[in-house]
Amino acid sequence: MFEGRHVVLGVSGGIAAYKSIEVCRRLVDGGARVTPVLTESALKFVGPVTFEALATEPLVTSVFGNADPIPHTTLGQTADLIIVAPATARAIASYAAGISDDALVATLIATRAPVLICPAMHTEMWEHPSVQENLATLRRRGVNVLDPESGRLAGGDVGEGRLADPAHIIAEASRLLTTPDMSGVSVLVTAGGTREPIDPVRFIGNHSSGKQGYAVAAEAASRGASVTLVSTVNLATPHGVEVIAVETAQQMHDVVMARSDTDVVVMSAAVADYRPSSVSDSKIKKNQGDLEVQFERTVDILAALGRVKTDHQTVVGFAAETENVIDNARSKLELKGADLVVANDVSAPQVGFAHDTNEVTIVSAAGSVEVPLRSKREIAKAVLDAVVALRDA
Ligand code: PMT
Repeated sequence: MFEGRHVVLGVSGGIAAYKSIEVCRRLVDGGARVTPVLTESALKFVGPVTFEALATEPLVTSVFGNADPIPHTTLGQTADLIIVAPATARAIASYAAGISDDALVATLIATRAPVLICPAMHTEMWEHPSVQENLATLRRRGVNVLDPESGRLAGGDVGEGRLADPAHIIAEASRLLTTPDMSGVSVLVTAGGTREPIDPVRFIGNHSSGKQGYAVAAEAASRGASVTLVSTVNLATPHGVEVIAVETAQQMHDVVMARSDTDVVVMSAAVADYRPSSVSDSKIKKNQGDLEVQFERTVDILAALGRVKTDHQTVVGFAAETENVIDNARSKLELKGADLVVANDVSAPQVGFAHDTNEVTIVSAAGSVEVPLRSKREIAKAVLDAVVALRDA
């Protein structure tokens, strides 16, 4: 499974560190060359001798005092994959902030290899906004996060935060090391809500944060696709993705249609259906009476794509619904000529606009697949799995 691959196994200081021994053994059994990198606090939970006996490469516990004077850059450059299991709140925060205060975080910052973070901590820490925001930052940058599981924690507590099962960590590592399934595929993703100007200082907009579109772009890039993101928002650019900034529906239309021969187009942007019929050149002054603004229809980008698409292209729309979710998504699929429509009920808790999570039903001519509430990156994975399956068929 891992024959000829070099895996750096980072271990930070939590009670789940003992499970990293099992991860190390399974990687070696699978044929990997494994370099363990332990933080100072990891050494309080597990002994160096265990890793020295099990791993194929020398143990690293510090940037200094090794045969190699710059172990972090050597490891970063030669790794095919870096796994951090367990990843503590401190290790996650240092990595997100770019603070290379130990050999593990220095190696993480010195690599272009895929990274798999496996957090483990008490439920209160796992749910803390600082941990969740740091993980959201890492995910946006293309880092893979294997969420912890629920179960027994240190001190006899029970809850979410238990390190993912070593078998799941190995399965995810294997997925990340296999040939990317979108290699050679061009992907265009739209993200964010369009802004339709009324005058030089005001616009009509919506609550789309762009998080779902950025997650699709990051996931497509991690699968080897060449990705262009047409965006109305200013989030961190995912690794390897080209971003084109736009504001209005018309600008988004022009950029998308100029690239309408892209293999896969995913329209996750919330595009305005109406825009002010005329835009004032100067700021509209307030006066005694009410202000009336006349609206006109915008161009429908997804429908325009549906009209020109060829058989080897795949066009995916999203549908933000609040009622009759599946029926409305199915009629959008047919009316707009899309291959897939990803329906989200944006009136449900933690679903849709601005949340870090989403819950969707992926509708195609063949039927529909429900994806329960999970991170937007996990939703992106499910959407791209459906795209790959459709293209393979
Ligand atoms: O950005 P986030 O905060 O992460 O939130 C994600 C999301 C809720 C915006 C996303 O999951 C989503 O549902 N995006 C589509 C929102 C939307 O505009 O839905 P709609 O049902 O109005 O449009 C259907 C499809 O037609 C969409 O793919 C849309 O991009 C497209 N469309 C709509 C209008 C228009 N003039 N041109 C279009 O191409």
